[in-house]
Amino acid sequence: MSRLSIMAYSFGILFFLVSCSFASFYGYKVVTHDLPKEEKTVEKYNYHFVLVSQELDNEYWRLVEKGARAAAKQYGVLLEYAGPKQANIEDHVKTIEMSAASKVDGIMTQGLSDEQFTPLINRVVAKGIPVITVDTDAANSKRLAYIGTDNYYSGYLAGKALIADTKGKANVAIITGSFYANHMQQRVKGFQDAVKGEIGIHIVTIEESEISRVKAAEKANQILQDHPEVNAFFGTSALDGIEIAHVVEKYNKQDQIYIIAFDTLPETLDYIRKGTIKATVVQEPYEMGYKAVKMMIDLREGKTVPPIVHTDTRILRKGDLPVSYHVRLEESR
Ligand code: BGC
Repeated sequence: MSRLSIMAYSFGILFFLVSCSFASFYGYKVVTHDLPKEEKTVEKYNYHFVLVSQELDNEYWRLVEKGARAAAKQYGVLLEYAGPKQANIEDHVKTIEMSAASKVDGIMTQGLSDEQFTPLINRVVAKGIPVITVDTDAANSKRLAYIGTDNYYSGYLAGKALIADTKGKANVAIITGSFYANHMQQRVKGFQDAVKGEIGIHIVTIEESEISRVKAAEKANQILQDHPEVNAFFGTSALDGIEIAHVVEKYNKQDQIYIIAFDTLPETLDYIRKGTIKATVVQEPYEMGYKAVKMMIDLREGKTVPPIVHTDTRILRKGDLPVSYHVRLEESR
């Protein structure tokens, strides 16, 4: 063999080896997306599940993740937590598709809208990958189960709480996370039904925050400019109430305006303690995550699971906060 052909062969072999390592590196990345270090080191696991949330760093979803991780650790599951950095339906859908393509053992996600999520979930289930909806149900899809709040009922509870706290007299503005999402629609509907018979309660306007803090604040500002008669707000997703409270305090109107929020994130509880937010609707995100993993394992093991599991929901006011919480806040001042 001439020197030239030896060189050509060696180069060819080198090129082949380099291509192989690139292929396996990127192939691995596609399968594992962006697994945190701790997950990459899990050596032996029984199943590989993915939890896809609407917004990765949303504190509410971090609680769902925490619950899911606790169950994953307990039962030897490799759990991947993925989703858009900021709420974005196309990215959400893409993440589910990628997870399905990498043939995971189960996908847990929201069933945000019937139009986009029902055919998607049906396709994934048809491939043999079980889907459990968490937090938001796509009830008409072939998902195997739903775990989360009864969203209609939680909105209804909010309406009843508002009637009780305002003695049946209020001009209400609603800021909802999204017009298209099933759970947001159900929360608004539940609220509307609860206040329907009340002649002193008027829903003045309904605006959308798109699950964005900035937009929630913008909408609250705009509502106060455009509708000076508004003296009550209902925020239907975790960040809405916080931003409404922020804006209401900016105008120093916390004594005139009643706010009912959703969820119990630390900032929401701080506003309740201060009296700016008067009530909030409690959800159980940690439990949703924990039980979703447990249910998925049951499904994989051929056990039957109930198709709908509603986690607890109730109203919380300042008087319901444990004494320890008040003490903690005083100490942090
Ligand atoms: C909802 C979640 C949503 C979050 C947004 C919660 O109330 O249940 O679906 O992603 O708010 O901040």
